[in-house]
Amino acid sequence: MNKIRIAVLVSGGGTNLQALLDAEKSGVLKSGEITLVISNKPGAYALERAAKAGVKTAVITKKECVSQSEFEARIRNTLEENGIDLIILAGFMCILSADFTRRYDKRILNVHPSLIPSFCGEGFYGLRVHEAALAYGVKVTGATVHLVNEIPDGGKIRMQKAVEISEDDTPETLQKKVMKEAEWVILPRSVELICKKIKEEEK
Ligand code: GRF
Repeated sequence: MNKIRIAVLVSGGGTNLQALLDAEKSGVLKSGEITLVISNKPGAYALERAAKAGVKTAVITKKECVSQSEFEARIRNTLEENGIDLIILAGFMCILSADFTRRYDKRILNVHPSLIPSFCGEGFYGLRVHEAALAYGVKVTGATVHLVNEIPDGGKIRMQKAVEISEDDTPETLQKKVMKEAEWVILPRSVELICKKIKEEEK
């Protein structure tokens, strides 16, 4: 049976995208293939990573659209044109409306750099997540891969991995640690699991 066609939506550096591309190469991700990368930022380094791996890219910015619904319609068209079955949000810095998420029910995954339900939801992105964890004084944080619904970081949890915080961690060191020890590990694994599941359901 054919592989699940995956689109990765990005806005920045794309280290999680890289983890997925590497997982495809190493065979950790074998039930799906990354066939498209969409960025809302023209200069995102993630686009270069995709190009280097020979993956098709598209840039869709909010600026060129008159409304959120036009922005989402453009994304949807691009996904449809490319026969996409599964969407991965990997550092995609835009919130998608309920209209969008309902159309792709159980077909959108996001990776968030904390153990949900801590330090998540609107306003918790990038370094802010790690600043909040350090300010609260938690001793363990981590990453979560979850399904995406209309509530920011509110969809069903698919996988989590904990990371210990040390006394001398800064938001920057913690961000790196969470990526390396958790995000880059659980994202490829959960993508493989969901691809397998979709294939089973389609049998
Ligand atoms: C990651 O921390 C991810 O959890 C969050 O945004 C960051 C993206 O980093 N949603 P990258 O672009 O994958 O390097």
